[in-house]
Formats: sequence, structure tokens, C-alpha cells
Amino acid sequence: MQTDWKNKTAIITGAAKGLGLALAERLLGYGARVAMFDRELETLEKSTKDNPNGYSYEVDVVDYDQVKKAVDHFATEVGRIDILVNCAGIVGKTNIKSHEVATADFENVMAVNVLGSFHTFKAVAPYMLDQGHGRVLHVASISGKDGNAGMLAYSTSKAAVIGMTKVQGKEYAQSGILINAIAPAVIRTAILDGMAPEQVKYMTDKIPMDRCGTLDEFVEMASFIVSDQNSFTTGFTYDLSGGRALY
Ligand SMILES: NC(=O)c1ccc[n+]([C@@H]2O[C@H](COP(=O)([O-])OP(=O)(O)OC[C@H]3O[C@@H](n4cnc5c(N)ncnc54)[C@H](O)[C@@H]3O)[C@@H](O)[C@H]2O)c1
Repeated sequence: MQTDWKNKTAIITGAAKGLGLALAERLLGYGARVAMFDRELETLEKSTKDNPNGYSYEVDVVDYDQVKKAVDHFATEVGRIDILVNCAGIVGKTNIKSHEVATADFENVMAVNVLGSFHTFKAVAPYMLDQGHGRVLHVASISGKDGNAGMLAYSTSKAAVIGMTKVQGKEYAQSGILINAIAPAVIRTAILDGMAPEQVKYMTDKIPMDRCGTLDEFVEMASFIVSDQNSFTTGFTYDLSGGRALY
């Protein structure tokens, strides 16, 4: 089955930069209509100003009311929501032991990475249920499978995202909505800028292919996962770790 991208609509969170932006550009290039959610409205608007299929929404995914308002607005504009991709994410303070993690930092990371992904799903699922069709991709991380020492909050949050994906995959398996996750190892984006160099070295040293992943490699796998060609896989976490995850 081919994907009729020109008739697809997608919401991508964290779309102002990094992985979310790269995927949004790919889906816009295919002719899909794409709502880009992020806290950074000005940056979003630079990407959408020349493309009538791009819609910018200033949304903090931690705030359910903001998420719901933007989702409902986009659905009214375009009539349906086929695809949801949760890319919004933060790492918090890294390169520290668990007992040194500030509770507020832990809560903040969990709020963006876990609550944020739950909020968008909760707002979007009723539309997908009505349509009897949908593709959801939660961006997790290899740290959620493997646990990165020095990254308690982040690794815990991404393990929770993987758990959420398994539950949702089962709950909606007969509804036409497929829910999957992806677990990248290191891909060079702005998210690394706030991290201690020792922490980035720790993560990259663990990649058997001895290199980082690329935005293109992410986009190729992610666009397959949200396409109609992906039709018999749900609740699964796709690996994008250069050989680090063997399970
Ligand atoms: N880059 C990597 O190496 C890597 C590896 C594994 C997983 N990931 C995951 O991929 C996702 C994207 O990461 P990235 O590398 O593109 O990072 P990035 O920092 O380049 O982009 C993240 C985007 O999320 C937005 N964002 C953060 N908090 C938000 C909030 N509360 N509401 C709305 N938007 C918010 C930021 O403004 C930013 O535009 C994240 O979930 C990250 O954990 C990244």
C-alpha cells in the first residue's frame, strides 16, 4: 500500500528544530499538511511562512489546555488528523548521580517527555478513533532501553515513553491506530548543547558503529513508521542506535 501523502495531515511537537523540524520538512515536502507545535513560535514561523501547508502553533506540551486548543484548531482547519509525532523533549541536568538530581529537574524532564506525549495523544486520539485510522510515533531514546548513567531523569522518562507505547499499542490495536516509538542513540542537534561533554562522549562511545546517527536516518525511519506502509506493527520501539540495542 502506498501513502497518499497529499491527503495526510500531521501534528509534530518540538518541530522548531532538530528531529521534529527535519521530519516536518520531509512531510511538507511530500505534500502533507503539517501542524508544528513548539514553545518557540518565532522559529516555527520562519519554517512555515512560505508554505501554506505548514501551520505554526505556540504550545507548551506540559499544559494540556494549550495542547487541546491547538489540536482542536488544527482539526477544524484541515478536517482530520492522521499522524502525531512527539518530538518535544528535554534532557535536564546530566553527568550527575541519582542522589544529586534535584527533584524539580526530575519533575520538569518527566513533565515534558512523559506528560507532554500523553497530553498530545489524549487530545488527538478521539479524532483518530472517529476516522478509524491513525499513526502515532513517540520519540523515546536508547537511554530508555539501556539506562544512561548520569541521566536519571531523562532515562527514566524515556523508559516511561516506551512503556506508554506498549500500553497504547495494545489498547488501540483493533482501532486502525498504530502507536510506535523510536529509540535513537546520539544524533547531533541542539539538545546536546546543554549537556556535559563527558556525558556526550559516554553516549557516543557506546555506539558500535562508532559514529552518531544523522537527521536523514531519523527521518527515513520515522516517515516509514507514520506511513500507511507500516501496517502490522504497533506498540513497538524501533531501534536507531547503530547497533547499541540488540533487543
Ligand atoms: N538528538 C539526539 O541525540 C536524541 C537521541 C535520542 C532521543 N532524542 C529525542 O528526540 C526528541 C527531539 O530531540 P532533538 O534532538 O531534536 O532536540 P532539540 O532540542 O533540537 O529539539 C527539541 C524541541 O522541543 C521543543 N520543546 C522542549 N520543551 C517543550 C515543551 N514543553 N513544549 C513544546 N516544545 C518543547 C524545543 O523548543 C525544541 O524545539 C527529544 O524527545 C529527544 O529526547 C534525541
